[in-house]
Amino acid sequence: MLLILHPNTQESDPAFKKTMTHLQQLSGVTIKQHEVRGQLQSLREIYLLGDTYALDLEEIESLPAVEKVIRISDEYRILGRHKDQQRRSGFHYQGLAFDQDSLNIFAGLCAVDNPKHVEEMLRALKANGLSCTRMGAYKPRTNPYAFQGHGKDCLPWVFDLAGKYDIKVIAMEVTHESHMQEIDRALAEAGRPCGVIMQIGTRNTQNFELLKAIGKQNEYPALLKRGFGITLNESLNAAEYLASEGNSQVIFCLRGMKSEFGAPHRNMVDFAQVPTVKRLTRMPVCIDPSHSVGSRDVAPDGVLELCHATAQGVLAGANMVLVDFHPAPTKALVDGPQALTLNELEPFLKDMEIAKKAYLERVK
Ligand code: E4P
Ligand code: PEP
Repeated sequence: MLLILHPNTQESDPAFKKTMTHLQQLSGVTIKQHEVRGQLQSLREIYLLGDTYALDLEEIESLPAVEKVIRISDEYRILGRHKDQQRRSGFHYQGLAFDQDSLNIFAGLCAVDNPKHVEEMLRALKANGLSCTRMGAYKPRTNPYAFQGHGKDCLPWVFDLAGKYDIKVIAMEVTHESHMQEIDRALAEAGRPCGVIMQIGTRNTQNFELLKAIGKQNEYPALLKRGFGITLNESLNAAEYLASEGNSQVIFCLRGMKSEFGAPHRNMVDFAQVPTVKRLTRMPVCIDPSHSVGSRDVAPDGVLELCHATAQGVLAGANMVLVDFHPAPTKALVDGPQALTLNELEPFLKDMEIAKKAYLERVK
């Protein structure tokens, strides 16, 4: 059972204390508290777990700090929508909204290679009015001899350049909890010029210990990629691991599924499930057209397959786009064939604008 408390309820409020005293007397029930931070107000939620079926809904609803009571299923307890269309989605980070209405574009390098390319990328973002990017420092590779990313060594200059070009948020994959600590340390040493969203890649979707470690902290939001060989339900449960440990600032990313039937695309594009994830959960939904389509191939009419897939996702209501660009794709150390060039950034953004407008016209 989920109890949503009145906005801005504090632990020191007499109404809160009275409510908690009552709840603590219920037998066979475990109480778990959760805070959802918003720009203007924070919401406190209380989960009653265990023997809740016998509880009197009206009695719980009448407790002084309680605004609303929802009976929830076991699945996606915190992140789930539980058929409540009004449940607030998402969170704010670095002054930006990440929710089921927003759209944030994270264009950038799949893998950080050198300061020149990072600077060219960030300069292009600024020139196009973007303040978010993706930058891969820790790369999970199929081949153990392939480039594995510069790791912590590149963080100081990546963060310095982010500050120089007014980048507010970087999505950066971490494959081990120590990477999160390295990022935190480097950000502190650089004077925290930007924020970081901890990205968990498709190869780690069910790395439960990594999920628990990222879930235990609240400083950095998480971007969880769908597992490329598991069901949507399994991936959504993986997202719930983050929230169950206390961090509900979670973005869910569709990035295609491994399937021969998707060929010649790298993966089977799954952006038709954007509205499905929004129906089932409160998470903002990201799409990654680069790792789904996996190439910059162009149809005879000039349509870039990767741009079309992105537009499909945005038209379906996507809230974030994670997309690979590179100043010189042939020189990229990872995934060059799927990187768009910097002069493709402006037309790409125009396509996104058209798709977002079409989405808004459809839903209004
Ligand atoms: C890049 O983002 C990934 O590390 C890359 O897609 C991994 O694939 P590969 O190692 O098979 O090239
Ligand atoms: C990435 O975005 O850099 C990446 C490795 O993607 P995925 O985990 O989806 O393969």
